[in-house]
Amino acid sequence: MQRQAGDTAFLSPASTASVPQMRYTILTYGCQMNEADSERLSAMLSAEGYEHTSLLAKADLVVINTCCVRESAEKRIYGKIGELKKYKAENPERIICVMGCMAQKDKDRILERARHVDIVLGTSEIARLPELVAAVKAKRQKIVATAEGEAEYPARALLSPGQVSVLIPIMTGCNNYCTYCIVPYVRGRERSRPAKEIMTEIEEAARGGAKEIILLGQNVNSYGKDRPEDNIRFSDLLSIIDRDSPVERVRFITSHPRDMDEDTIFAIKNGHKLCEHIHLPVQSGSDRVLKQMNRGYSTEHYRNVVDAIRRHIPNCSITTDIIVGFPGETEADFQETLDFVREMRFDAAYTFMYSRRSGTRAAAMEGQIPDEVKKERLHRLMNVQNSISLKINRELEGSVAEVLAEGPSKDDPNHWTGRTRTNKVVLWPVSGLAPRPGDLLNIRILKAQTWVVKGVIADSGD
Ligand code: 5AD
Ligand code: SF4
Repeated sequence: MQRQAGDTAFLSPASTASVPQMRYTILTYGCQMNEADSERLSAMLSAEGYEHTSLLAKADLVVINTCCVRESAEKRIYGKIGELKKYKAENPERIICVMGCMAQKDKDRILERARHVDIVLGTSEIARLPELVAAVKAKRQKIVATAEGEAEYPARALLSPGQVSVLIPIMTGCNNYCTYCIVPYVRGRERSRPAKEIMTEIEEAARGGAKEIILLGQNVNSYGKDRPEDNIRFSDLLSIIDRDSPVERVRFITSHPRDMDEDTIFAIKNGHKLCEHIHLPVQSGSDRVLKQMNRGYSTEHYRNVVDAIRRHIPNCSITTDIIVGFPGETEADFQETLDFVREMRFDAAYTFMYSRRSGTRAAAMEGQIPDEVKKERLHRLMNVQNSISLKINRELEGSVAEVLAEGPSKDDPNHWTGRTRTNKVVLWPVSGLAPRPGDLLNIRILKAQTWVVKGVIADSGD
């Protein structure tokens, strides 16, 4: 993310007088909620007069925004924090901040494990960073700020040049307590933002050049339940946004199969900007395991939701998350997951090996599964899903899709990348006049792969 103080549409009048120019960089791990938090922090720091740099070696303030949903992410992040030791030694004035979910979970332990860290910043206290940086500079003390409570949304997202898509959190936290999941412990209770505030933010994003917004929440379907006085449910919010927001496309993640209702499906069906894609994590195809996970639905309920989606929105893509190797998962349970995946025909599945998170209920369950078994199940599941994804994508070959252009592909600058309304990633060659990020183009799909499809610009009139 290249950010410069001068090219922001969102910047509020900066109070730069008292702050000497400092350069910051943010390393972001984990989900889109973390990306959204990083964008917010970036906007706030810029408004305070900080300048962004993408080079670690040039940063006076290094922020690592962390994830703790699985152990593998944590290990990687602790490795990165370790790497920063030499940067701190190089310049002891440099301030290192570890923020986000792992900071909330490990609190003081981070300072014990990594003495070169200056600030540990929890998920609800992002807005305090400038104040804490000033305190560290004045007193050279270490600070742990991980109080729980209302997350503040101090600054609006800041668009970087060419940014087409903007993440907009509509709620934070999660009340579900799925037995494997650490998120409710580090992100707290569900809190919905007022619809008015969300709308204002969308309008400002559009004014800044955004063509697409992605509404974020751990369980978007329970939006508004904590604000009964407003009487706006998720489906209402979607319809309002579809009607009133000046963008081309609206997406949302993540839906919970237990709470997904027909009104939400109708909102998408009747909407124009709402895209035909629903991410609906099933987690397992075994009713016994779903119960142990405390997911609150059966495979039959899930099947009914998917049937309703496909009945009302025939071209809707459906993606999912699946965990293999949950405690007590037998080979027979796993076979049920494979069968369910074949039956549901998901467009794509994000598949994970169960990771034991201490403090969660599943961590204390009997029947923890050895790593080799988890790995082997993961491979079998990926093989089944990959061939389904490929088959579905092959059905697109020859058709023309509306693609929102994002920019040159990272792997190959001669190709551009963008997405269909159904969230398929499309690559196409660009020669001559390059498109602009945010252009809506008709692309003829020629060649399908598992995770992307390749095409060419279709003649106008196609
Ligand atoms: N182990 C493995 N996967 C997990 N997820 C959440 N917690 C765990 C865990 N302890 C997965 C779920 C969720 C996705 C974001 O991460 O599938 O939907
Ligand atoms: Fe975790 Fe379940 Fe909440 Fe998702 S819905 S964040 S899996 S507790």
